[in-house]
Amino acid sequence: MGLSVVILAAGMGKRMKSKMPKVLHPIAGKPMVKHVIDSATKLNPGNIVMVYGHGGDQVKASLADIDLAWAEQTELLGTGDAVARAIPHLADDDVVLILYGDVPLITSETLTRLMLASEGGNVGLLTVILENPRGYGRIVRDGVDGPVTRIVEEKDASAAEKCITEVNTGLMSVGKLQLEKWLKNLNNDNAQGEYYLTDIIEMAVAEGLRVNAVNPESEAEVTGVNDRQQLAMLERVYQSERADELLKNGLYLLDPARFDIRGEIEFGFDCSIDINCVIEGKVKLGDGVSIGPNCVIKDSVIGDNTQINENSVLDNAEVGSGCKIGPFARLRPNAQLKDEVHVGNFVEVKKSVIGNGSKANHLAYIGDAEIGKNSNIGAGTITCNYDGVNKSKTIIGDEVFIGSDTQLVAPVTVEDGATVAAGTTVTKMVPAGALAITRVPQKTIQNWPKPKKK
Ligand code: UD1
Ligand code: CA
Repeated sequence: MGLSVVILAAGMGKRMKSKMPKVLHPIAGKPMVKHVIDSATKLNPGNIVMVYGHGGDQVKASLADIDLAWAEQTELLGTGDAVARAIPHLADDDVVLILYGDVPLITSETLTRLMLASEGGNVGLLTVILENPRGYGRIVRDGVDGPVTRIVEEKDASAAEKCITEVNTGLMSVGKLQLEKWLKNLNNDNAQGEYYLTDIIEMAVAEGLRVNAVNPESEAEVTGVNDRQQLAMLERVYQSERADELLKNGLYLLDPARFDIRGEIEFGFDCSIDINCVIEGKVKLGDGVSIGPNCVIKDSVIGDNTQINENSVLDNAEVGSGCKIGPFARLRPNAQLKDEVHVGNFVEVKKSVIGNGSKANHLAYIGDAEIGKNSNIGAGTITCNYDGVNKSKTIIGDEVFIGSDTQLVAPVTVEDGATVAAGTTVTKMVPAGALAITRVPQKTIQNWPKPKKK
């Protein structure tokens, strides 16, 4: 017996007021439907079927690297019709888990319980009790606490049924052959003229099967996204859960409410992150790393005891241990800083290696460069790596002193121990131990008559 997952995602999402299909709107930087897929994947399903309609090409394109089956629903005829589209992709002995692409925070723990609730040929139904059940299908039971007998949609419900606070989340678990049979017997004879998936509950009960209701751990898990307010609300829920988990595991977030993670972070002992930081992609911190306020760190590795000061931006950077970065530093893709490196304010580093103990403390652009150990890059230094067509390399050795406001016109090499005087435009190799200077001699005119305002 296998498990198949069907994800309903054919709805239009009109209230998002967006050109992008609803299920692609991100939570924590990841399309909401991808959250659903990721939770479902943890249950090792043999197959995940996406029922798509509106904006299908965009949805397909954005999930192209995931192994999914696709079932098109051309007309929105209801959830029953939507699930029927997926049937050809399912195996007869499958248990089918039906999920919504716009209910993103569902956890794999809850899905596991839902799946188990359909054991023995029964039906598992995920329900929740809401203070305000308006708009949802109501769970009708035999007596107050008796078994589930059917689901009635709000628009078809009697006044008494509308008072029921236990609602259908829409998520259920059911055997494929039964599902197929019941779906064939659906009709659209109801207030909305739709094929209601929910009508299969009554059919299951009529066959003497049990409908086992299970509940989520939290309401947020089963909250659907219809508009941007709900999206933002779930974003906050997600972020606050992630922040709590990180705090519990020993990462110190100075204010968990002002921290955003859009990916994964690994960290050693005694790391801290100040307010308003964003972590994206895969970030790895060693021990004792401190990150100042307002930093954005994406796909980067940071070594032990390194300090990233306020307002720094790192993207695909590798930083060694004992480094001091920022404030206002920008490390771009393939910036590779060894140990004890200092990169200060308004310094941009791209695709460059900076050796142990070297420093670029102020206002510099270091691109396509290799810098050795204990070299000093003065304020205002620019590697002129681009001639308008090609990129070229600057190579700087160990113990080099580059004076302020130097331009290094690549390709060019400055050898170990060399000195470049301030204001120099380096166009030729500077040999080891030499001084390079290109400077117009200073003229001094005594008693210069200052211009006067007319
Ligand atoms: C459905 C349930 C209702 C439940 C509610 C929870 C039915 C008949 N009703 O309500 O009991 O309380 O969800 O939110 O099932 N979809 C399609 N194709 C369609 C229709 C819907 O793919 O033809 C998808 C939507 O994209 C969405 C999900 O199914 O992801 C639910 O659709 P929606 O219209 O939001 O739910 P309701 O039918 O109002
Ligand atoms: Ca709805």
